Amino acid sequence: MKKLIVILMLCCSSIAAGAAESKLENIQVETSVQAVERGADALMNTCHSCHSLKYITYHDLVKFGMDKKKVDDWRGDQPLDTAVTSQLSDETAIQSYGKVPPDLSLMTKAREGGANYVYTYLIGYYITPEGMTSNHVFPETKMPDMMGISGATDPAQRAEIQTKARDIVSFLAWAADPHEEERHKLGYYVIGYLLVLTTLLFFVKNQIWSRLK
Ligand code: HEC
Repeated sequence: MKKLIVILMLCCSSIAAGAAESKLENIQVETSVQAVERGADALMNTCHSCHSLKYITYHDLVKFGMDKKKVDDWRGDQPLDTAVTSQLSDETAIQSYGKVPPDLSLMTKAREGGANYVYTYLIGYYITPEGMTSNHVFPETKMPDMMGISGATDPAQRAEIQTKARDIVSFLAWAADPHEEERHKLGYYVIGYLLVLTTLLFFVKNQIWSRLK
C-alpha cells in the first residue's frame, strides 16, 4: 500500500513538473549580429535603467560586431572597457521596488527554462479580473510590465512586443556566453592542427620502418 502511495505521488509530481515546463513559450534565440544588436538596442532603452550586465563591457559589444556609433551612444562618456552597469543605486531600487533588480549577464543560464523562461516572463504580464497586473510565470514579481504587453489587445501590437522580447532574449543569450563563437573557431584550428600532425607522423613512421626493413 505504501509503495502504491509513493508511486502515485511520484506520478503526480512529474505531471506537475511537466505542467510547469509546458507553461513556457518555446522560442528559437537568434545568434546573428543584427538580431543581437536589435536586442541590445531594445535592452538599453527599456531595461538598462534598472538592470546591469556586469560581466559585459561596451568593448565586448564592439568586438562582437555591433555598430561602433551605437555603442558610443550607449556608453556616453564612459570608457569603452566599462561594464554595462545601471545608474540605479541599490537604495533607490529598494525604496522604489522593494528589491534590487538582478544582474542580467547570466540570466538565461540562471533560471530553469533558460531563454524560454525569460521570454515567457517578459510577455507573461496580464490584467487580473480584479484589475491588478500579474504574471503567468512569476505572479508576485516586483518588476513592472516594461514591455507593455498586459495593455496590448491589438494582435499586431502584441506580435511587435513579442518580436522585441525575442530580440532582447537573443541578446541576453549571447551575453551569457559571449565567447561561444571563438570557442568553436578554436576547435576547428585544433582539429586542423591535429590532422596535419597525424599526417606528418605517418610519413615519419613510414621512413623509420622502411630503414628497419
Ligand atoms: C523599473 C525597473 C525595471 C526595469 C526597467 C526592468 N526591470 Fe527587470 N526587474 C526589476 C525588478 C525590481 C526585478 C525583481 C523582481 C522580483 O524578484 O520580484 C526584476 C527582475 C527581472 C528578471 C528576473 C525574474 C526572475 O525570475 O527572478 C528578469 C529576467 C528581468 N527583470 C528582465 C528585464 C528585462 C529584459 C527588462 C527590459 C525589457 C527589464 N527587466 C526591465 C525591475 C526592472
